Amino acid sequence: MRTRARFMIRDREAADAAQPASIPVCSVLLAGNERKYVDDCIDAGWISSSGRYVAAFERKFADWCGVRHGVAVTNGTAALHLALLALGVGPGDEVIIPDFTMIASAFAVCYAGGKPVFADADPLTWNVSPTAVAAKMTSRTKAIMAVHIFGNPCAMADLRRLAGEAEIPLVEDAAEAHGAVFSGRKAGALSDIAAFSFFANKNLTTGEGGMVLTDSGELAERCRYRRNLCFPAARTYLHDDIGFNYRMANIQAAIGLAQTEKADLYRAMRVRNGLRYRESLSGVPGLGLQGGQPGGESVFWMNGIRLEPGIYGRSREALRRHLEENGVETRLFFNGMHRQPALRKYGCDCSGAYPESDRLADNGLYLPSGSGLGEGEIARICRLIADFACPGGR
Ligand SMILES: Cc1ncc(COP(=O)(O)O)c(C=O)c1O
Repeated sequence: MRTRARFMIRDREAADAAQPASIPVCSVLLAGNERKYVDDCIDAGWISSSGRYVAAFERKFADWCGVRHGVAVTNGTAALHLALLALGVGPGDEVIIPDFTMIASAFAVCYAGGKPVFADADPLTWNVSPTAVAAKMTSRTKAIMAVHIFGNPCAMADLRRLAGEAEIPLVEDAAEAHGAVFSGRKAGALSDIAAFSFFANKNLTTGEGGMVLTDSGELAERCRYRRNLCFPAARTYLHDDIGFNYRMANIQAAIGLAQTEKADLYRAMRVRNGLRYRESLSGVPGLGLQGGQPGGESVFWMNGIRLEPGIYGRSREALRRHLEENGVETRLFFNGMHRQPALRKYGCDCSGAYPESDRLADNGLYLPSGSGLGEGEIARICRLIADFACPGGR
């Protein structure tokens, strides 16, 4: 069964009128035991966070990533929040994060009471630059957050060395990177503690959902405790700490378990599509593609292109419209953290230059990247881009 994600659904008539068929930026594959396991939850009456699928999903996903403990939660933002709290991040603490990331990376630091400090992107990999991180380290730096942008693993050896020298933890925001590999180990197993998202556009999904992974039993226990409103082990209903209701429902975990059973297949589909895009687009003038990290294997969660500003005498908006008119949905890249009014109001230092992050934010477009994307669809998208770049042929 192939189901369009809710946020991708557009007006059907308009889509049908546009010939050939439109291609959404992402679609979700629910092709395994999802229905069977959800039916099982309903038949058994276990639809809350109690029920066997939560623990089964935690075990399966943690095993697949090669990590000892998994703590399933409501979403990836909550997973990041719990991970930072487990590390003791609090008021007065700085956490270095990429400037070019999704806002949740920064907000999670704010929820913990800490201050996000931004480091510019690497021009090749679009991930945080270790040199930029090193320049932002102070005595208040409590942790470094590596975000594997679009499924491309960060320079984890360099980031690990920086964290080790400062004797601070390294956190992975692996929300976009299920199955990405660095030096033979999967994302989630590359740091002290990691957070994943299972939102519907991710490589593996539970609709909404997230998970913390860590090899540390102590950190996992802290996350479990806070996930469940800091309920004491004995049912005294006396709470020593402020907790959160970040529990994942059994039905979501049932979907997650079915998805993880197919994780190798879905990973292979994304990688195959990412490589097809690269093969077709690498010769197109004026387009930048996300570069790989030595030792890294991207899982190509999203395939983005970065246009050279003013290229072809036309704008990114012109390319976006050209693709849209031909039935291809795209999205603009994130805006950098230093441009975020909310973070400025919160008190983050948004001064300073982030030229690489700005270049990405102002010139980037995501192309359709769902696991089930067909070879013909990718060929059509690449042809449209090449036609735009070189009208009349390359
Ligand atoms: C890099 C990054 N971090 C965190 C998140 C937050 O995940 P969620 O939407 O599940 O809260 C996302 C979501 O897409 C993300 O892309």
